[in-house]
Amino acid sequence: MPINNIVVLTGAGISAESGVATFRGPDGLWEGHRVEDVATPQALRRNPELVHRFYDLRREKLGTVEPNAAHLALARLDREWPGELLVVTQNVDDLHERAGLTRLVHMHGELLSALCASCGAKHRWPGAMPAGTVCPGCGEPALRPDIVFFGEMPEHMDRIERALADAQLFVSIGTSGAVYPAAGFVQTAAYHGARTLELNLERSAGSAWFDETRLGPAGTLVPAWVEEVLNSSPAYSGGGGPA
Ligand code: APR
Repeated sequence: MPINNIVVLTGAGISAESGVATFRGPDGLWEGHRVEDVATPQALRRNPELVHRFYDLRREKLGTVEPNAAHLALARLDREWPGELLVVTQNVDDLHERAGLTRLVHMHGELLSALCASCGAKHRWPGAMPAGTVCPGCGEPALRPDIVFFGEMPEHMDRIERALADAQLFVSIGTSGAVYPAAGFVQTAAYHGARTLELNLERSAGSAWFDETRLGPAGTLVPAWVEEVLNSSPAYSGGGGPA
């Protein structure tokens, strides 16, 4: 089956070689907190200063990191792929955008955005956001990080589901397959007949669902895969089975 529509899912692993900590690796703790204990609506209610400080520090760190070869390769695919492409990232950093990727959605929110808990407005927010920061829209002291916390609905799900239903190829890059609904995308894509490929440092919780898993750093695997798919190697021009 010729490949026209591609969906790519990225996770923290694609930003690891840029120096951005992943969540469930040895670097997954922040000041002794599991991220899961900080990124929750309960934590925001219980200790707003802690949660706001956590995201202020992560937002500040963005200024010290750069996109890596994997981000740049996906931006090349975006420029050169003649068919449909949607990159769905679970990451809240801006490294995909800074690499030049445009066909992108953030399903877990963005560090550089503020959400007003009162009026629902979103504002680009590159600086610090202490608890009680006033919303420029409604004037309420209700700005919070524009991050989808555990238990909250991920964003852009309608668009993502439509893209998965229409995809002939689904590629997962740098994610542990530990968090739904993202971890279920491979099954949705496969149900609709897509070929599925995983590029990851180690086997993930979802590896068994993929037609093919390639193990290694994203900075090496992603540029090689983009070269392969752009050169429409036989594996992608309708050949059956794993490449
Ligand atoms: N190249 C490729 N993969 C890598 C690399 C690398 N250089 N370094 C780490 N990985 C892999 C790890 O093996 C792991 O499977 O990336 C994955 C990172 O997994 P997590 O830390 O669980 O991050 P992620 O899958 O993005 O987490 C999903 O959980 O905490 C929530 O909302 C948060 O979006 C996040 C979601």
